[in-house]
Amino acid sequence: MSRALLRALRFMHSYRLTAALAVLAVLTAAAAGLVSPQILRLIIDRGIAERDMGFIAMGAGGLIAAAALGGVASFLQGFLSAKASHGVAFDMRNTIFDKLQRLSFSYHDRASTGQLITRVTSDVDLVREFVGGGLVQAVSAVLLLVGAVVLLLAMDVTLALVAFAVVPATLAVLLLFVRKLGPMFREFQARLATLNTVLQENVAGVRVVRAFAREDFEIDRYRVADTALLEQGMSVRRTVANAFPLLFGVGTFGVGVVTVVGAVRIIDGSITVGQLVAFTSYLFLLLQPLFIIGFGAQQIARASASAERLFEVLDAPIEVAEDPDATPLPESSGRVEFREVSLRYPGDTRETLAGVSFTVEPDTVVAIVGATGSGKTSLVNLVPRFYDATGGAVLIDDHDVRDVTLASLRSSIGVVMQDSVLFSGAVRENIAYGRPDATDEAIEAAARAAQAHDFITALPDGYATRVGERGIKLSGGQRQRIAIARALLIDPRILIMDDSTSSVDAETEAALRANLDELMAGRTVFVVAQRLSTVRRADLIVVLDDGRVVETGTHDELLATSCTYAEIAASQLAGADGEHIDVAGSCAADEEAGEADA
Ligand SMILES: Nc1ncnc2c1ncn2[C@@H]1O[C@H](COP(=O)(O)OP(=O)(O)OP(=O)(O)O)[C@@H](O)[C@H]1O
Ligand SMILES: [Mg+2]
Repeated sequence: MSRALLRALRFMHSYRLTAALAVLAVLTAAAAGLVSPQILRLIIDRGIAERDMGFIAMGAGGLIAAAALGGVASFLQGFLSAKASHGVAFDMRNTIFDKLQRLSFSYHDRASTGQLITRVTSDVDLVREFVGGGLVQAVSAVLLLVGAVVLLLAMDVTLALVAFAVVPATLAVLLLFVRKLGPMFREFQARLATLNTVLQENVAGVRVVRAFAREDFEIDRYRVADTALLEQGMSVRRTVANAFPLLFGVGTFGVGVVTVVGAVRIIDGSITVGQLVAFTSYLFLLLQPLFIIGFGAQQIARASASAERLFEVLDAPIEVAEDPDATPLPESSGRVEFREVSLRYPGDTRETLAGVSFTVEPDTVVAIVGATGSGKTSLVNLVPRFYDATGGAVLIDDHDVRDVTLASLRSSIGVVMQDSVLFSGAVRENIAYGRPDATDEAIEAAARAAQAHDFITALPDGYATRVGERGIKLSGGQRQRIAIARALLIDPRILIMDDSTSSVDAETEAALRANLDELMAGRTVFVVAQRLSTVRRADLIVVLDDGRVVETGTHDELLATSCTYAEIAASQLAGADGEHIDVAGSCAADEEAGEADA
């Protein structure tokens, strides 16, 4: 049994009483099983031999009673072990889900959804099957085995020794078999996960597939993954199928030898017929558990492979972890400082951000501008610690973000991400996601500020309209506005809006701005913006180029001094009412001067 599987058994701890009762039931069933051949022996050797009908009837009654006891005990064993194993699966699923909730963004960047879903569902279930079926069966098999060995020895030492010869042979076959199956089952689960990944991507990306008419390609891709799974399943079955005849062969050979030796001993008068009958019954009791263990062996191999996969998730390091001495972030003024910050994503060779330093004063708006891929999202993600800086520090009111508790940090920051995800549920619940106890008035106020109130009231059920997965479909701009309302509702000290008005039309954006001014008051706001109108009103503009801050200043300052900014303003920022920045004049001259210098 692998170490991972032994660790998985620790989940049994909370169900130890139930599990102990299940084992007790197994013991009872086993005892009932062991008693029957003895009764049978007595019936033959005494009842029949002495023609004592009363004794035979009593013996028959005993057989029925033993069978009934065995039946009740087996029923209880099934019920109790199911109870324990479903409990274990329930706890394992929840533990993994908890862990997934705490794993950092960087883990989720690397993990595929199909992999994670396979682990939480199929792998948990395979471990559960083992705990509920295989384990109890194995315990019962071992007990039966021990019981059979003791009884066989007690009945006839010579015959017993002949019979035991089959045990090492059987065990050797089993061991070989388990060794071989373990990696095969691991591969099977891995292929299942790949298949699920293809499935998940296709369900989520079905519109892209249609748009590019790639159905046949995707069908092929799925078929390939499915074929790989089928092949692996078949080769597992082949290995299992090859092992069983071998096991049966060893067992049957043993029975044959015992029968011959037994017959000789009956003839020479050392044992009675009844003894041989009882002995052969126990021989089946000896072989049966070996087969059970053989069958259980593949379950053990399978559950071990799955347990390893579960612990890969449970043991994954939490990269953005809370410091044990972290203190809650005090009521903050909202001053944010980037001090020589650099960021290198795990597994990346180059730095995405390097030497970033600037300070945002409380209650001001900072706009981050720069080409796509220049690191704007990466930069703002450091404030709520979605990732940790690999160099330097981000400070809020002189507290390093790594020294405060994650909950206090994140609850004082409202984030509107670049792509807004809504959960399936009512609009109201989505807006109140960060503050479930918010009043309807507060929710409506946030929606008004986010320019979402009007379209929400026009929805079929207003704020109760269901959105997300199986709800009504919202436009990109509508989703963004709900996401803005959601961020505003937690009344954050610091508000981060990553490109959050890009899907909103210019008119709505203007209305949004007018209202936001009010809601931005008393907050420090980071805005990654594409619109000149937004950027122009910022108190500070940070211009990023390939992960470095190339300029900081206000719109007017930068326009006067920075050609980079002037170019970005002219080429990347969308002007509202036909507004246009002209870079030709001074910057063209600047560039020429620069070239002359060089
Ligand atoms: N989670 C991540 N893991 C690894 N690399 C990343 C990750 N996120 C971004 N990057 C890389 O970091 C660089 C900066 O990306 P970032 O998303 O910060 O750019 P951006 O300025 O926000 O771009 P855009 O304007 O397109 O949103 C890119 O080269 C990108 O490939
Ligand atoms: Mg971005």
